[in-house]
Amino acid sequence: MTAVCYWFSGTGNSLFVARKITEVFPQMQRVPITKALVENPPRIHGDVVGFVFPVYAYGPPAIVKRFIARAAKGEVGFLFTAVTHGGGPAAALTMVERLLTENNLPLHSAFSIRMPSNYVVGSNPVTGEKAAAIFAQGEKETTRMCELLAQRAHVPVVSAATGGRLKSWAVHPLFMRGLKTADRKFFSRDSCTGCGICVKVCPMENITLTAEKRPRWHGSCEYCLGCIHACPERAIQTGMLTKKRRRYRHRDIPLKALLNRDH
Ligand SMILES: Cc1cc2nc3c(=O)[nH]c(=O)nc-3n(C[C@H](O)[C@H](O)[C@H](O)COP(=O)(O)O)c2cc1C
Ligand code: SF4
Ligand code: SF4
Repeated sequence: MTAVCYWFSGTGNSLFVARKITEVFPQMQRVPITKALVENPPRIHGDVVGFVFPVYAYGPPAIVKRFIARAAKGEVGFLFTAVTHGGGPAAALTMVERLLTENNLPLHSAFSIRMPSNYVVGSNPVTGEKAAAIFAQGEKETTRMCELLAQRAHVPVVSAATGGRLKSWAVHPLFMRGLKTADRKFFSRDSCTGCGICVKVCPMENITLTAEKRPRWHGSCEYCLGCIHACPERAIQTGMLTKKRRRYRHRDIPLKALLNRDH
């Protein structure tokens, strides 16, 4: 059996889900969707193929869209997708289904998994009991998803209500357009030690260190927020609000797993 799970993750929520799925299919290869993979896309084929990634502004991340559009398509026996979200996926799964179908990849099963939100630009990441309750919900949903995947059950996309559809079809494109230049607003504070973790965590190879050992962003950001969350000094900011907010990573995903991009 050939099985592959393509994943994208800024702070580990989606990687956690991808790891759980590969426990169901031990032969499954886990492949991170990065700039390198989008530039050299493989042929998508196999008995089981999955896509796991976060929801960005009620829809899929741009890198996932590019990867699916560019990759050559072959025979796929069973195709699933799982999105992780911070409580408001709106019609993201419907968007994903459309994206896949337009690219000759019919979707058999779709899941959305609740996780703590990593959108530190919008709100402070939760901690304590609130975080524990969300992790518990996410783990329950992940376990149920794995049971259904083991049976290769067909789980159709459930339509969102009108408000959710509006968010996905109207807000998502506007938000994504704004992200093209978003890293211009990133900066590092003087607490930066020049450790280079931000360089290694970026899936887009979008960060280098200057001669003064400070990060510089190069305009191909996916806004995964991985660099902001991974900086051990909390030195990376965007706007005025991130300075006072916590940083986040999925509690079961070590930083190393996000740095290597090959686990
Ligand atoms: C740019 C951006 C936009 C987001 N938009 C949404 C959203 O519309 N709805 C939602 O529920 N969560 C949203 N989130 C939260 C993430 O979807 C959620 O925390 C996800 O599990 C992060 O996955 P990761 O750790 O694999 O990167 C957003 C996060 C980012 C970084
Ligand atoms: S991770 Fe933080 S401390 Fe390390 S180089 Fe980047 S900004 Fe500086
Ligand atoms: S620059 Fe930061 S936010 Fe942008 S893609 Fe890289 S790690 Fe993610």
